[in-house]
Amino acid sequence: MLATAHISFFNELLKERTSTDLEVRKIYGSDETEDLNFPPAIVLKPETVKEVSEIMRYCHENQITVTPAGARTGLSGGALCDHGGVLISMEKFNKIINIDEKNHQVVTEPGVITQVLQDAVKDKGLFYPPDPASKGSCFIGGNVAENAGGPKAVKYGVTKDYVLNLEIVLPTGEVIWTGANVLKNATGYNLTQLIVGSEGTLAIITKIVLKLIPHPTHDLLMLVPFFDAQKACEAVAAIFQAGITPSGLEFMERDALVYTQTFTGDTSLHVAENHAAHLLIEVDGFDPNQLMEECEKIMLVLSEFETDEVLFADSEAQKATLWSLRRKAGEAVKAQSIYKEEDTVVPRYSLPDLLGHVKRIGANYGFNSVCYGHAGDGNLHVNILKGDLSDEAWNEELPKAIRELFQEVAKLGGTISGEHGIGLVQKPYLDIVFGNTEMRLMRDIKKVFDPFNILNPGKIF
Ligand code: LAC
Ligand code: ZN
Repeated sequence: MLATAHISFFNELLKERTSTDLEVRKIYGSDETEDLNFPPAIVLKPETVKEVSEIMRYCHENQITVTPAGARTGLSGGALCDHGGVLISMEKFNKIINIDEKNHQVVTEPGVITQVLQDAVKDKGLFYPPDPASKGSCFIGGNVAENAGGPKAVKYGVTKDYVLNLEIVLPTGEVIWTGANVLKNATGYNLTQLIVGSEGTLAIITKIVLKLIPHPTHDLLMLVPFFDAQKACEAVAAIFQAGITPSGLEFMERDALVYTQTFTGDTSLHVAENHAAHLLIEVDGFDPNQLMEECEKIMLVLSEFETDEVLFADSEAQKATLWSLRRKAGEAVKAQSIYKEEDTVVPRYSLPDLLGHVKRIGANYGFNSVCYGHAGDGNLHVNILKGDLSDEAWNEELPKAIRELFQEVAKLGGTISGEHGIGLVQKPYLDIVFGNTEMRLMRDIKKVFDPFNILNPGKIF
């Protein structure tokens, strides 16, 4: 709980844009991470950089914990107030400031919904590719804080590849720009990229400058059923080895698709009993003939694997349906059972090995898993279902199983999060991929930015 004097300060500064109401605090106490809830002591909704700066200066002087939050769609607990204190919601920072068509850049506030930003730049023929599954509700600021990915990352890269410059408020209240609005920058340390993916632990992002590219004019989408999930994973690297870079290459185990059909009520797609997994493959570009040629090459590669009949989406509506089935998989699994989601990533060619380890470890520990994800990136979302497991097995055995899985991931040259971040729920496993020296460097960086450890404490480390 916060002292009355602190609450009075925030009320004075923000007027009606504060709340200590329990119901409100509970709402802001959750993101999309499992079923966790940590209500903050107070919810603040600043609308200017100056207000954010004044909040931070005050919290720094009084050593009050601050957790920044966007749309709270995160999956690693990065916006959870497990230390109580102040939650700063960036929802009022919801303006696109300038679409600079001459330079192919956009300057935006962080509380803009990613899809709103994408649609606004698309109206000008421009493309901001990173498209997390939650693009219809997540904020661009959260995407930057977590270095979000999504299906397009396989061809176009992740959020970090588009961030040119950031206006940030430091834990002390100082306001700086991290770089310059340029495509090349060899000037000093790269503070911009240090903030990208720092999970709200180093600074609060108040303005974002993003690079844009011309929007592709055409795309083709196919859904490929495999009789063997392992083989589906093997086909992934083979497609790239044939010289194709799809704009989406997603993997879905049978259950992921079936649960999503149940969840959405959309059963227009027939999933046969012997379809163990599907690949959803998209190519995009500017020349329809070239895309047809790429699909033919992909079909040639697929002929080396045992697949059932390939479904080519023949309308925009069908494309939307197929993408929706993929994008809603996470929500569908969540509706199915208590679950734990892992965001493993390995070099693409090792994807079949990764799936093998998931199933082997699952069998040893007695848990079921549903896997789907960005196969082209080697990024597999492993959803472990509680199902009928006892609370004891879930609480005591599962962490051991996850540790074992992450150790295999590390052996394959991979790491424990591709796009969801470490936040609160993955920090017990960070030692698997970082030694003492790496951890010391990261902790020291945190201290330089935030000597009193007030900004999002207990996240990452
Ligand atoms: C997805 C989220 C979970 O790919 O990252 O659906
Ligand atoms: Zn994902």
